[in-house]
Amino acid sequence: MKKTVLDYALKVKLPFTVFIILTSFAITYFVAKPERDGVGYAPEQPVKFSHRLHAGDMAIDCQYCHTSVEKSRHATIPSADVCMNCHAVAKTDSPEIVKLTQYYKEGKPIPWKRIHRVPEYAYFNHASHVVNGIDCANCHGDVREMDIISQVHSFTMGSCLDCHREPQKRMPQMTGKLNNGPENCNACHR
Ligand code: HEC
Ligand code: HEC
Ligand code: HEC
Ligand code: HEC
Ligand code: HEC
Repeated sequence: MKKTVLDYALKVKLPFTVFIILTSFAITYFVAKPERDGVGYAPEQPVKFSHRLHAGDMAIDCQYCHTSVEKSRHATIPSADVCMNCHAVAKTDSPEIVKLTQYYKEGKPIPWKRIHRVPEYAYFNHASHVVNGIDCANCHGDVREMDIISQVHSFTMGSCLDCHREPQKRMPQMTGKLNNGPENCNACHR
């Protein structure tokens, strides 16, 4: 009696349990991948704003909305009143614009989901890259083609360093003089 119970546990239950553990690990691993290294992360946003439409078709300059990208560490996300420069009159009957107008009238910030992020302990500065002629697309992909923004490059330490070591390789379109980026630890960990 004892023996058969043990046999059953070893031959059926144990492999079965191991199988379940391994499959759930594998599934969680792949499902959580975009969240983990960021690449492919494209959350649904509270208002269906399209870069393809605004920055692509209408060719609005990135800096019309991301005003401080040349001046400071952060690019900043525009507040609703920037949108209302046009949407006080444009497409006011669209449900998405009704939503936008609601946020604006209530003075509530639109809860955009953040996509690109480096951890607090690492220092990244937009201005020092952008003023040296490095185009947004080198790091963010061709945003003008995106209806929903998605992260296309990883921002791990390895990927920062790949470009810092050989910027010409990552940005072959940039002719002329191009400095390497720093590789010393305290440039990025201050
Ligand atoms: C009309 C305003 C507007 C213009 C023009 C615009 N953006 Fe944006 N951008 C936004 C808004 C609003 C968000 C936040 C919502 C979203 O992620 O779609 C955003 C988000 C982003 C993000 C993701 C931020 C994050 O959370 O990590 C990137 C990258 C970005 N924009 C790059 C660009 C680039 C590059 C251009 C020019 C080619 C551009 N944007 C033009 C309004 C604009
Ligand atoms: C320079 C003017 C301008 C600015 C600034 C602007 N938009 Fe627009 N937007 C338009 C125009 C024009 C359309 C309509 C395009 C079309 O349908 O051909 C539009 C379309 C849209 C639509 C699609 C509406 C629909 O249902 O068809 C959304 C959503 C939207 N804008 C959100 C925003 C948000 C959010 C911001 C601010 C981050 C913003 N827009 C800033 C001009 C602007
Ligand atoms: C060298 C790479 C690089 C370039 C070039 C670059 N970005 Fe970024 N961007 C990043 C990184 C890294 C983050 C995450 C920053 C953080 O977490 O502090 C980011 C974040 C953002 C965000 C989210 C808000 C913020 O500031 O953290 C926006 C919006 C954005 N970038 C827009 C732009 C625009 C517009 C341009 C071009 C004018 C641009 N970026 C050029 C790497 C780059
Ligand atoms: C597409 C190429 C590219 C990528 C990706 C990139 N960098 Fe850079 N970075 C450069 C170049 C080129 C310089 C040197 C600019 C110059 O001095 O002409 C630089 C300069 C810097 C500097 C020195 C200037 C300052 O602001 O103090 C820091 C720090 C830095 N990068 C951090 C980062 C971090 C952190 C990442 C990753 C999240 C990153 N970079 C990703 C190309 C890149
Ligand atoms: C060009 C910028 C840059 C330089 C130079 C740099 N780092 Fe980093 N480092 C980062 C970024 C961005 C992260 C966060 C992303 C990640 O975990 O890969 C990071 C993460 C780390 C972590 C945490 C790793 C983890 O897995 O949690 C350690 C430890 C670290 N760096 C040490 C160093 C040391 C030591 C040096 C010098 C030999 C150095 N870094 C140089 C950008 C840099």
